[in-house]
Amino acid sequence: MNADIIVDLQYGDCGKGKVTHHLCKSGEYTHVIRYNGGCNAGHTIYHNGEKYVTHHIPAGVFYGIKSIIGPGCVVSPTQFFKELEELKEGGIETAGIIYIAKNTHVITDSHMEEDGKDSKIGTTKRGNGPAYRDKYARNGVRAEKVPELQEYIIDLYDELHGDKDVNVLFEGAQGFGLDIDWGDYPYVTSSHCTAGAAILNGIPPQAISKVWGVAKAYETYVGRKKFQPDDDIFNMLRQVGSEYGATTGRPRQCNWMNWDLVEKAININGVTDLVFNKMDILDKLGKWVIRKGNQTVQFSNEGYMKDWILTMLEARDINVHFSGDKERI
Ligand code: IMO
Ligand code: MG
Repeated sequence: MNADIIVDLQYGDCGKGKVTHHLCKSGEYTHVIRYNGGCNAGHTIYHNGEKYVTHHIPAGVFYGIKSIIGPGCVVSPTQFFKELEELKEGGIETAGIIYIAKNTHVITDSHMEEDGKDSKIGTTKRGNGPAYRDKYARNGVRAEKVPELQEYIIDLYDELHGDKDVNVLFEGAQGFGLDIDWGDYPYVTSSHCTAGAAILNGIPPQAISKVWGVAKAYETYVGRKKFQPDDDIFNMLRQVGSEYGATTGRPRQCNWMNWDLVEKAININGVTDLVFNKMDILDKLGKWVIRKGNQTVQFSNEGYMKDWILTMLEARDINVHFSGDKERI
């Protein structure tokens, strides 16, 4: 058994979907499993020149790989069926490859309604928090109990620990800065967003080989706390980077990359492979800045910024990749 994990090192929206889609291309994975979160996620994926936004369904579906919503997630049947329909309409083959673990908890309409009234955290209003609360209060409903979902239910233990050799890619949602324990509480999501969360989905720790950390060349955050400094450059960054929520359409608050956060996330997640996405957006902006401690480090071009990052990571055994927004890897 082998498993690799994809984890977001910032506040979500770092391009996890793109990395999952890229890694699936190798044809080496037998399963792609979403390990946390619900339809609060919005993963933008370009497949054969078409744009797709997924919320629940792992990106393995684009390559016909068995794609499973794991028990670390919460699932909204309404959103699940809507997404299935969208994929089918988009010409993606979904039959027999999309499953939900039987012990995954359900987001009900009343969870959505309750979350819809949130004004404290600035949630995505997708019912995520109330669904996890009920799961832990032992008042929740598992997917196996929902009649409409029967066709999609799978026992993840039987699936992963049977006779067949499995090679799992774990697709994360949200990000380290939104993690319920390591994020800036209470401005966090209600699930675990670290590599540790992946192994809660039925895989022993020894099976893990690679942890793909995904970061962006700058930071974005959506929610109620003030995040973006008062400087018009960040409004320009939002424009240039098209930083609007894939799930809610809200404008994302922007800031320069915080190296301390990236470093902390690398350490806690045990990152072995690291991707910095959207490097070309800074190029369009003509500014390259990284925050470290109370300082901001400014670079006169992308090359110097990359060199600085590589120097910071020199002592570690990490494969570093830089990617542009338009690179459809
Ligand atoms: P992906 O997987 C960015 C944010 C919300 C809010 C906080 C709590 O696309 O990276 P929630 O609805 O989870 O209770 O909201 O978390 N948030 C995300 N921000 N990307 C996401 O997912 C997010 N999922 C939740 O904006 O601040
Ligand atoms: Mg997103």
